[in-house]
Amino acid sequence: MPIRQANADEQTQLSRLAAEAFFDDELFGDVIHPHRKQYPDDTYLYWLARLRQGWSDPNNHFLVSTVERDNGAGEVIAAWAQFLRKSAKAKKETAPPDVSDLPPNRAASKELEDLLERQYEYIAHEWSGPRAECWDIIWLATSPTHQGQGHGRALVEWVIDKATQEQVPSSVISAKGKDGFYNKMGYTIPTGKAWEPETNPMYGLVEGGQFWWRESHLTTGQNGNK
Ligand SMILES: CC(C)(COP(=O)(O)OP(=O)(O)OC[C@H]1O[C@@H](n2cnc3c(N)ncnc32)[C@H](O)[C@@H]1OP(=O)(O)O)[C@@H](O)C(=O)NCCC(=O)NCCS
Repeated sequence: MPIRQANADEQTQLSRLAAEAFFDDELFGDVIHPHRKQYPDDTYLYWLARLRQGWSDPNNHFLVSTVERDNGAGEVIAAWAQFLRKSAKAKKETAPPDVSDLPPNRAASKELEDLLERQYEYIAHEWSGPRAECWDIIWLATSPTHQGQGHGRALVEWVIDKATQEQVPSSVISAKGKDGFYNKMGYTIPTGKAWEPETNPMYGLVEGGQFWWRESHLTTGQNGNK
């Protein structure tokens, strides 16, 4: 499965792919974009703003998985991921992204568009102590037309290889219905939920949001789960 670094001029394309992949997700669909059926072409603006913000941090890595077009006319991006090399010394950007030069996202809830940024302080402790140095899966999206073809696996294997080389753990917050996918990829240690505790602004809004860790660096030799 061909994997390569994404290019900055592909941000809009990646945003549109994520908008499609997450369109009916409980969090990025129902909660954050309640008006998406009326304004389906606006939801990519959410992703574009966050992609641009992420791009400004060199600790983020953007990968795409591609397929060749049948007629030999180049490639199609089937999936992409954002992986963050977290460390105790790197400061996480928690301010909402700058959207001043983008059209308004009419599909989004005005009150909940910045939910992830407001929620971060409640979950930041997950990446502390022995888990401060790690690789986190920030975003992962396979286009609906290319799901089930191994693109998600290929992208996650990239980050697993990084974590294994650096002997650090890897984390993900799983969307509703995606636990099985991450478990299959070796993310089998559950810790908290992204919506805990009760004071978290995400509390009561979603059912998904399980933290999963892959800690193959703690196992050694032939019995390691890498
Ligand atoms: C989750 C997602 C990234 C999976 O990507 P994908 O490219 O379809 O996955 P793959 O084809 O690489 O699947 C790898 C394996 O996981 C399995 N798998 C895929 N989705 C699964 C799921 N939801 N539950 C359980 N297993 C799953 C596949 O059957 C495959 O198993 P196999 O290797 O034994 O054949 C994709 O469904 C997606 O983009 N969903 C919408 C956005 C989203 O929720 N992203 C994740 C946010 S945390």
